[in-house]
Amino acid sequence: MPASNPQIKLVVADTLSAAKAVAQIIADQVKVKPNAVLGLPTGSTPIPVYEELVKMYQAGLIDFEQVRTFNLDEYVGLKPDHPESYAAFMAKHLFSKINIPTCQTHLLDGLTPNPESECKAYEDRLVKEGGMDLLFLGIGENGHLGFNEPFSQVGEGTRMVMLTVETRLANSRFFSAIDQVPTHALTMGLRTILSSKSIVLLAIGKKKAKAIKMCLEGEIKDEWPCSVLKGHEDVLVVCDGDAASGM
Ligand code: F6R
Repeated sequence: MPASNPQIKLVVADTLSAAKAVAQIIADQVKVKPNAVLGLPTGSTPIPVYEELVKMYQAGLIDFEQVRTFNLDEYVGLKPDHPESYAAFMAKHLFSKINIPTCQTHLLDGLTPNPESECKAYEDRLVKEGGMDLLFLGIGENGHLGFNEPFSQVGEGTRMVMLTVETRLANSRFFSAIDQVPTHALTMGLRTILSSKSIVLLAIGKKKAKAIKMCLEGEIKDEWPCSVLKGHEDVLVVCDGDAASGM
């Protein structure tokens, strides 16, 4: 395995330009294929990207009427109207502000009594819709993609996972206390992620520097789920200078 993967393209820009670049990539995908299937993340990182997409929509530069979306993950046990559910996040930051029909937006049901069949139905639906054309990813400090925590396997599909303490700690900033952060989530698997035709990953801030280094350099390692992106032929990583500072 080479020290770095020449297949993964890297762009380093200031924080706002990085978010704008990712929004432009999404807009370009929708322009080329108006009914594109997009994979989408939640968290702090995508917020400025979604803001930019809303601005583009308001300016008449992008039309979401035929777009279909599949979110990467959802917490287990939170109702869709819980303010920290990913369903509520997507409604607040994107879906309520653009013209995408709700029936074309897909999120895993964190309240399902049967996680296994929920995850299988999600995978089946994704395949039926033709698979993801473009998957937009964030990245965890521990290198997680979606909620595929360290030691997730590349062959795994959508499933229920237990969150690591460090992920619950990182995400406790959105909750009143760490014990309010769900212990489990449903997530697309690494296999599902790698099935997307193209991938754009956005990383902002010093806390992501080690994960970005492991994503771009060295071998694929089980401890660093992000390193599996080396096995995909169309990945663009967009970082600010801090996130790129580990290389
Ligand atoms: C959330 C997701 C996660 C986040 C990651 C980074 O849907 O897929 O992998 O992308 O935890 O989160 P932020 O952007 O809050 O640092």
